[in-house]
Amino acid sequence: MPLVGTDYVELYVGNAKQSAHYYKTAFGFQSLAYAGPETGVRDRVSYVLMQDKIRLILTSPLNSDHPIAEHHKKHGDGVKVLALWVDDAYDAYEQTIQRGGKSYMEPQTLTDDHGEIRMSGIHTYGEVVHIFVERKNYRGVFMPGFVPWKSDYNPSPVGLKYVDHCVGNVGWNQMNPWVKFYEDVMGFRNILSFDDKDISTEYSALMSKVMSNGNGYVKFPINEPAEGKKRSQVEEYLDFYEGEGVQHIAVATSNIIETVRDLQSRGVDFLRVPQNYYDHILDRVGHIDEDLKPLSELGILIDRDDEGYLLQIFTKPVEDRPTMFFEIIQRKGAKSFGKGNFKALFEALEQEQALRGNL
Ligand code: FE2
Repeated sequence: MPLVGTDYVELYVGNAKQSAHYYKTAFGFQSLAYAGPETGVRDRVSYVLMQDKIRLILTSPLNSDHPIAEHHKKHGDGVKVLALWVDDAYDAYEQTIQRGGKSYMEPQTLTDDHGEIRMSGIHTYGEVVHIFVERKNYRGVFMPGFVPWKSDYNPSPVGLKYVDHCVGNVGWNQMNPWVKFYEDVMGFRNILSFDDKDISTEYSALMSKVMSNGNGYVKFPINEPAEGKKRSQVEEYLDFYEGEGVQHIAVATSNIIETVRDLQSRGVDFLRVPQNYYDHILDRVGHIDEDLKPLSELGILIDRDDEGYLLQIFTKPVEDRPTMFFEIIQRKGAKSFGKGNFKALFEALEQEQALRGNL
């Protein structure tokens, strides 16, 4: 099934107005569009933010008797929609339903003075859904029902360019069924697998399979917990999110050193690996274009696959519950992922987990 890329990511949050301020101030997103009582939507508000190709929607309900309020009560802030940009939303729906997808939104056409958007949607793991968005005949800022959001407060972008991948945490023994869903229903391939020996520490473990669509523009790794002496990070997520959901959204930059420096100065907290991570790193990953010093000062990790290397770093969770976080990634030839960073990263995550009393 042809996918052009990620269209938007929608979070259900407790207070969309304040979340929007955070994503503008801390992550450099720009105001794009708005829907709410002023535009005729009576039961919720949505702020649409943009940075280069990334669109982020923050939505909150306006009363307690609303499905979004139920979602937020159960999960806290979290991702509801991973929207995919398609050439034909009606065809995407028909194909995926025919192959066993569960309907979330029947195909519909929304129109206004700027043209039409066609969309449809299916369920995936947990309460997350994929919405297929077809926008080739639309010229407005976002989609019908939204008005341009003009703001006098416009912090500068930090160089985030596009959504690189979105990772899902699923329950015990649920990774393979969801891998099969992405293969059978969505036409994805499993491009890489990590077993519990690849990703384990003294205490806990997880397993992960990376699913990719045909052109590689959409990647959905799926994690499940694995047996260990203590509770793994995936279990901590499942306990606090009260179910399966999106663990992290990875966003790409073309200059990770500048982007991370900027994000840190704006108050974004990152996970830190032990400084000895950098002692023999170049023996493992080979030559890199960047100086090691700024990478080690900022805590940026380095890994490689057969085609090149990549630089990545993970934020701490961005809400009160230890659930969703962001990854900042810069690809230098690598199109997939390496296996080298997982152990260091996992140990850093466990240190945080122990501080919360959840290990
Ligand atoms: Fe990632």
